[in-house]
Amino acid sequence: MTFPRRDGRVDRAEAEAGGGALGPSAGPGPSAGPGRSAEFPGGPPAAGVDPLLVVDDLVAGYGGGDVLRGVSFAVPAGGITCVVGPNGAGKSTLLATISGLLRPRLGSIRLRGENLGGKTPRQILAMGVVHVPQRRSLFPQMTIRENVSLGGFMLRDKTVVARRLTSIEEMFPIVAERAGEKAGSLSGGQQRLVEFARCLMLDPTLIILDEPSMGLAPRVLRSVFDAIRLMNQRGKTILLVEQNARAGLRLSTHGIVLENGVVRLSGSGHAVLENPEIGALYLGGAVSTPGRS
Ligand SMILES: Nc1ncnc2c1ncn2[C@@H]1O[C@H](COP(=O)(O)OP(=O)(O)OP(=O)(O)O)[C@@H](O)[C@H]1O
Ligand SMILES: [Mg+2]
Repeated sequence: MTFPRRDGRVDRAEAEAGGGALGPSAGPGPSAGPGRSAEFPGGPPAAGVDPLLVVDDLVAGYGGGDVLRGVSFAVPAGGITCVVGPNGAGKSTLLATISGLLRPRLGSIRLRGENLGGKTPRQILAMGVVHVPQRRSLFPQMTIRENVSLGGFMLRDKTVVARRLTSIEEMFPIVAERAGEKAGSLSGGQQRLVEFARCLMLDPTLIILDEPSMGLAPRVLRSVFDAIRLMNQRGKTILLVEQNARAGLRLSTHGIVLENGVVRLSGSGHAVLENPEIGALYLGGAVSTPGRS
């Protein structure tokens, strides 16, 4: 049900992605809806209708080689899109290219029609795209409050910062409850929640999550997935890479199978789960699911 991992490898792109997630941003301004959190209004727009991000024939890689060899897919606004695939398929490379850490060699990435190609990570961040990297990215010797605040450290308006923090604390109570404690004192799952809290400081449009369940026990995994669902319910579009393919696809409105740098299959999360060939290859046998849990 999970892909085997190569041990011990940390991608440079992922290491840099930590900086991207923390980088400064003008950030989209606060938005509010009636009866909803002032900072993160509830109710995702109808998923599957309006693409927020469109990736078209994307080629990217490192040095002399291409890792992504013509990747095309759309991320519907308001949905959770899950990318699954074996180790080395290019999943992290894809996320790094979207967030600007790696330059596309060919093809385009468009956010609401605007081409991200050629923009810096900071510019892409300012457009509301945040990237939570595969490896853990909190500063363990800093407090939880300090780590979360870093997510919005370039926001000039202190009242916006305070309001966002209040909304985040309401979503993730651990941020207030453990505010003064060092981030390194938290469990792996709790650190993930604080990373989510940090990325929400910029009120992002698109949250990119690279293997958020990595290294977590199944019981903890549930709380992390609940947090992803909650951010989505508060209006955030999510692009998720998940090694735990079955659980990730169950959580998601849309699924993409990336294999050897190309999209092997895409469709609703349910359709990808139900695909017998994909099930046999990646999910431990063909599956029949009564519905998304
Ligand atoms: N910084 C880098 N420099 C050179 N090659 C890299 C770099 N990062 C990744 N690669 C190579 O690119 C290919 C795709 O790696 P990538 O990390 O995107 O795969 P992945 O699908 O995220 O795998 P995993 O499931 O292990 O996280 C692999 O062959 C990998 O060795
Ligand atoms: Mg990866």
